[in-house]
Amino acid sequence: MLASLMLLAVMSIRAQEENGFRSINVKTDFTENGFSWFNKAELLAAGNSEKHNAMTIGWGGIGTLWGRTALTVYVAEKRYTKQFLDKSQYFTVMAFGPDANRIMRYMGTQSGRDGDKATALGLHTAFTENGTPYYTEAVLVIECKTMYAAPFDPQYFKSEVPQNQYRNFPAGVHTMYIGEVVNAWTR
Ligand SMILES: Cc1cc2nc3c(=O)[nH]c(=O)nc-3n(C[C@H](O)[C@H](O)[C@H](O)COP(=O)(O)O)c2cc1C
Repeated sequence: MLASLMLLAVMSIRAQEENGFRSINVKTDFTENGFSWFNKAELLAAGNSEKHNAMTIGWGGIGTLWGRTALTVYVAEKRYTKQFLDKSQYFTVMAFGPDANRIMRYMGTQSGRDGDKATALGLHTAFTENGTPYYTEAVLVIECKTMYAAPFDPQYFKSEVPQNQYRNFPAGVHTMYIGEVVNAWTR
């Protein structure tokens, strides 16, 4: 059993390496400014090898929670990606290189309900050892295991900022997904 698990882990590391990635430790090797990293938009993906989807995110947080390295994303009720996040234990957050604007624009304005966005963009899907989807064109892949997920409850809004956000927001309230960072790869 242990031997098969070790073999699976080695195979997975090789699979990532074959795709041109090397494993990193986000605590020491991630050098972006966490206060602005999400503002330039990143890609969020979830699902499994049978069905998966991705969308652009502009909101998120990185830090520490419950003694774990954590990454939080916020996904509105109507996003097609949400059902994949709710069904899977893992998700990935990805950054892209020079093609990022084109990818983020399309992934953030089209819905996977209407067709495979990755195929339309010419992106190639691969899967981590946990079966989490990512795109081989990414320059950074952070894989997270969801520790906590809950929609915002308006009764706990403490300022006009969230109240104003949802006053006229047909996509619905956001669900917060707090993930433990379990793997990260870069080129
Ligand atoms: C720059 C940008 C940032 C976005 N950030 C978020 C976000 O943080 N959370 C969210 O729920 N939607 C966000 N969106 C909207 C979704 O990406 C968009 O509705 C997308 O089409 C959903 O795709 P899906 O239906 O395939 O899941 C953002 C869109 C853009 C263009």
